[in-house]
Amino acid sequence: MPEQLELFAEKPDEADDYVTVARIGDIADGLGRPYEVGNRVIAVFRRGDEYFAIDDFCPHQGASLAGGQLEGCMVACPWHYWRFDVNDGRWLDSPKIKIDTFSVRVVGQLIQVRPQPCNTSE
Ligand code: FES
Repeated sequence: MPEQLELFAEKPDEADDYVTVARIGDIADGLGRPYEVGNRVIAVFRRGDEYFAIDDFCPHQGASLAGGQLEGCMVACPWHYWRFDVNDGRWLDSPKIKIDTFSVRVVGQLIQVRPQPCNTSE
């Protein structure tokens, strides 16, 4: 339930800085969901048993990238179809532009993200 997920997002893992955002099964295969983590929104995508996390804010006009469908490692923004690589955040049509990516892990039934970006957006 969304109310419970928001509670998860406010509770950092005591052992490190990962934050629980969802449970296994909450994200449909090939799709994403947005989660508030701290003062930003992170889009978490699932491909089979793999998870990817990117900034949810499209740098074009601010659409939620979590609404895009994952195809391989690419997600297209649902508004104007800018395409991003969920591995490194590259805008595939102009790789000089990147969005933030985040580490994701699964612990038991919990999906956790690290709030600090893996890369830096330009
Ligand atoms: S808002 Fe994402 S491509 Fe336009």
